[in-house]
Amino acid sequence: MRNRRAALAATAGATSLALTLTACGQDLGGSSKDSAKGDTIGIAMPTQASERWLTDGKSVVDDLKADGYKTKLVYGQDSPKTQVSQIEALIKQGVDALIIAAIDNKSLNGVLQKAADADIPVISYDRLILGTENVDYYVSFDNEQVGRLQARYIVEKLGLEDGAGPFNIELFAGSPDDNNTKYFFDGAMHLLQPYIDSKQLVVRSGQTELKQVTTLRWDGPTAKKRMDGILDTSYGGRTVDAVLSPYDGISIGVLNALKEDGYGTGSKRLPIITGQDAELASVKSIIAGEQSQTVYKDLRQLAGMAAEMADNILNDRTPRVNNRRAYNNGVKAVPAYLLQPATVDKTNYELVLVAGGYYTDAELK
Ligand code: GAL
Repeated sequence: MRNRRAALAATAGATSLALTLTACGQDLGGSSKDSAKGDTIGIAMPTQASERWLTDGKSVVDDLKADGYKTKLVYGQDSPKTQVSQIEALIKQGVDALIIAAIDNKSLNGVLQKAADADIPVISYDRLILGTENVDYYVSFDNEQVGRLQARYIVEKLGLEDGAGPFNIELFAGSPDDNNTKYFFDGAMHLLQPYIDSKQLVVRSGQTELKQVTTLRWDGPTAKKRMDGILDTSYGGRTVDAVLSPYDGISIGVLNALKEDGYGTGSKRLPIITGQDAELASVKSIIAGEQSQTVYKDLRQLAGMAAEMADNILNDRTPRVNNRRAYNNGVKAVPAYLLQPATVDKTNYELVLVAGGYYTDAELK
């Protein structure tokens, strides 16, 4: 029987050669190409409550099927315990590889040991799984760049580089158990902090530390509640000029709090508000002039890369990676392929999302 983990470890040292050869389209190691067709791949996604993960699940399944694989797709309903038992079940069913978008990045160590014992390779999908050596590859976007794009939008729209201000801003971050959260926040704060220091940006709530601004499970209603509280306690007679939001679901929650407080009517203009994922509701909100911006991550590319990685691993070829250092999971630097995100607002959504084939005009009506 082939030992895929041993093969992965053996090829790890030969990466640069492998990269060159795969880039030239050559097969590695003389293994029988496409021998894994017909294998089954387990895909564990976090939740069906957010549109993006539905797209991710469907795209990964479609790509793997097109490559001749069978798939088993499960959704963990945002419960770490459920996700652990789902992955256990996939292992028992004898899947040949796992593609996992973790709910809680640290709750999977036990079950991933079982995957390793069963010689099942693991690809961490979009969210890095921490604290275990039993994760072989990572596929995601440049997550710090996501935060920088959100912050850059705020800096530009407020004219901060020209010395404008002071403006009131509030900060929101993602789920504290998602490894991406700190990358998004750090990327954004790298650009915003100098303006907070110079007092061109004022955080009236005083909540500027990551641990004060996280949103468990990226939940919109949780973000709404926090925004309600901030408006009540810190904004009597003053207005919010910008909100850093890391994700569209959170942006919609924050917008709901603002609208209930009278923003968007009369002279009380909605603040600049960022987002991420180009979810349909948020793109419509951008077109309607409510949410200002989102960060578009082409999930078709992400899914395609995950499927390609699985195909290469299962055929004993070395997957393409473009970053071997940035994503250390506490036990090892996980070889990663990072894609590039793009900023989208009212001025370019047609070019990026419609002409790019991500949405049709009809879907955005
Ligand atoms: C993150 C992901 C974001 C967003 C968020 C909430 O891990 O990178 O794009 O989808 O989860 O689902």
